[in-house]
Amino acid sequence: MSRTRIGIFGAGYIASVHADILGQDDRVALVGVADMVEANATRLAAEIGDAQTGATLEDLFRMEVDTVYITTPNTTHVDPVVTALGEGLNVFCEKPMATDLAGGDRIREAALASRGVYNLGMNRRYAYTHDKLKALIESGDLLPYSAQLKLNRGELLRPAWTADPSKTGGFLYETTIHQIDLLQYLFGPISTLRCAARSAISEAEFDDFSMLFTFESGVVATLSSSAHSGWSFPFERVEIYGRYATAMTEELERVRYALDLDQVVRTEDYTHIAFAEKGGYVKEDRLFIDALQNGGKPPVDVDDACALNLLLACIYESAHENREIDFTARVREAIG
Ligand SMILES: NC(=O)c1ccc[n+]([C@@H]2O[C@H](COP(=O)([O-])OP(=O)(O)OC[C@H]3O[C@@H](n4cnc5c(N)ncnc54)[C@H](O)[C@@H]3O)[C@@H](O)[C@H]2O)c1
Repeated sequence: MSRTRIGIFGAGYIASVHADILGQDDRVALVGVADMVEANATRLAAEIGDAQTGATLEDLFRMEVDTVYITTPNTTHVDPVVTALGEGLNVFCEKPMATDLAGGDRIREAALASRGVYNLGMNRRYAYTHDKLKALIESGDLLPYSAQLKLNRGELLRPAWTADPSKTGGFLYETTIHQIDLLQYLFGPISTLRCAARSAISEAEFDDFSMLFTFESGVVATLSSSAHSGWSFPFERVEIYGRYATAMTEELERVRYALDLDQVVRTEDYTHIAFAEKGGYVKEDRLFIDALQNGGKPPVDVDDACALNLLLACIYESAHENREIDFTARVREAIG
């Protein structure tokens, strides 16, 4: 099998995380890097070693890549993804897929018409903490009845663009998307949702969210997310409650669980595991390259991505209109 020839579009922070991982995969050739800021492309190419540089997506096409990683800011994902799929290339795009329903629909259409494979980067699914929760649920050791999730961000100051919805698409698309994605990943299809939100310190957008979800499985879950709480621990947590059982994550560092009464509480501690490994980035990249090389479903395909995109839009709609949304009906409408 020939090596997957990858070009990276957007040479900032997360691009360098993926480049480091992909550079260690023998099945991959990191061919080129493009960025509108020449110095950023040059810096990442130097980190990689012998990659070519360019400024535009078309520059990557000229380097004869077969796959692109789109790692530009949130509101600039849709056009390059659609263009690359139109060229028949495989696409790994960082979260979010899009920041509205129309953008998601354009990508879905392009993906269905393309011979290329589309994948959305949702690393949190494969974080060690969440892999463990998923395994406890799938093995039947933990049957979830209810859950409580939270994901806070410390401030909307550093960097300044995190306070600008024209760049992020909104706080939920920037940060909370990670926990929102875990909901259906862990507990299956959502039936209804309700979100109350306020603008506590931001003048531009909602920055405090309290959400309530019901699931077809009967699970009931809450998710709260604040953009301005400071960096006090814990800022990220999933707690799942079963029959005399609790499993909970502490940041991406630990899982603690007890599966029955009068049992030892077990802890798995990932403190000493490298960030990219325990954060799920290594596994998501490996699964994506597996799908390209061997066929089969990529880790977060276009249907998964559209489902998440619809969920985010419905949460914002609930917040703005202050009412419950019948999500089952929305999914039915979207499928047509
Ligand atoms: N999965 C995760 O944990 C995670 C973490 C961080 C960022 N992200 C996502 O990755 C994406 C990038 O975030 P980042 O933190 O790396 O940002 P960044 O600001 O560090 O890097 C973005 C790069 O894209 C370049 N760029 C911007 N617009 C461009 C354009 N039109 N054409 C070419 N280059 C352009 C910038 O010059 C910059 O080098 C965002 O969508 C973000 O949500 C995901």
